[in-house]
Amino acid sequence: MKGLILCGGKGTQLRPLTYTTPKQLLPVANRPIAFEVIRRVAEVGIEQAGVIVSPETGHLLMEAIGDGSHWGISLTYITQSEPAGLAHAVKVARPFLADSPFLMLLGDNLFEEDLHEPLARFRNDSPAALLVLKQVPDPRRFGVAELDSKGCCVRLQEKPKSPRTDLAITGAYFFSPAIHDAILRIRPSWRNELEITDAIQELVNMGHTVLGHVLQGWWLDTGTREAMLHANQLALERIPSGKAKGDIRGHSRIEGTVELETGAVVEDSLLLGPVSIQTGCQVKSSTVGPYVSIAAASIVEGSHVDNSIILDNCSIKGVGLLSHSIVGRNSKVLGEAGTTASLLLGDHSVVELQRTKEGRG
Ligand code: TTP
Repeated sequence: MKGLILCGGKGTQLRPLTYTTPKQLLPVANRPIAFEVIRRVAEVGIEQAGVIVSPETGHLLMEAIGDGSHWGISLTYITQSEPAGLAHAVKVARPFLADSPFLMLLGDNLFEEDLHEPLARFRNDSPAALLVLKQVPDPRRFGVAELDSKGCCVRLQEKPKSPRTDLAITGAYFFSPAIHDAILRIRPSWRNELEITDAIQELVNMGHTVLGHVLQGWWLDTGTREAMLHANQLALERIPSGKAKGDIRGHSRIEGTVELETGAVVEDSLLLGPVSIQTGCQVKSSTVGPYVSIAAASIVEGSHVDNSIILDNCSIKGVGLLSHSIVGRNSKVLGEAGTTASLLLGDHSVVELQRTKEGRG
């Protein structure tokens, strides 16, 4: 059994951040999403995985992830010349996959549970494919699977206006080598991509068995700001409560779970957990939290920040309330009392917030 981790794509929904950082390397609770995805593949005992990357950002992923030895897995990087769809990625990976069955995981999807249970079912029942599914309140945004009474897929729909079920197809798929023949038989969709849902439907049409496994725990596709912030919240809720290792000075107070790394300084501030603050950060005369993660060497001074992801080496100064934001590396957000902002900023941004004349009272 091999793994295939998809870290190509354009990441248009997270621009401008994704002009300089592939979305799979954006952090939730200060840990890159791709690291968690690799862990999910390695923990079910897979020893070799391919990582699909784009020509533009592949080198950044290779630098950050390395050869996989950190997770006890051997990784092979495979460049997809253009983001021509998930089934296209499988096609490009064919020489690596050879005739092995494989677990395919989207590099921007997070799962609460490990994948031991669906893997065991895939091994026992030997279907052509097993799809990991999740009941969702609004299936219209997803690929949707319709199952028969035995749990076999009878039909798939892609972003249907009238979904026949509430079972979304998540970013985890188990495939036998039969998928390669199905991919050879499909044509690009209206958006000019080779769609994996079309290939799986083709498997069903060819008479193969495709099983569905419904997850109990949460599943998150982190492709938008909303979803990233939601993933950050869930990940922060899982940080272990332990002693803050950083330096807490003056009239500071900590409530709830706070991860404060060695070398971080908090002075005259209120931290409302869950919060994660990395090494080299300085938080002064501020309120931070709940649901905030701040990457290394950033400064928050005279500001209130909640529900946000701040990347490395940023300065947030004098901002009345920064909320619901993702701030790219090396950025500055400068404000004054009474200013509020909700931002999605690329790296090296500068934002100066001012109150309107009316606001000055
Ligand atoms: P998507 O989120 O569907 O596509 P995208 O990354 O281009 O995002 P956006 O819609 O914001 O432009 O991709 C899901 C995952 O699969 C993601 O980790 C990127 C990866 N992927 C590839 O590796 N190759 C591809 O051809 C495509 C379309 C996606």
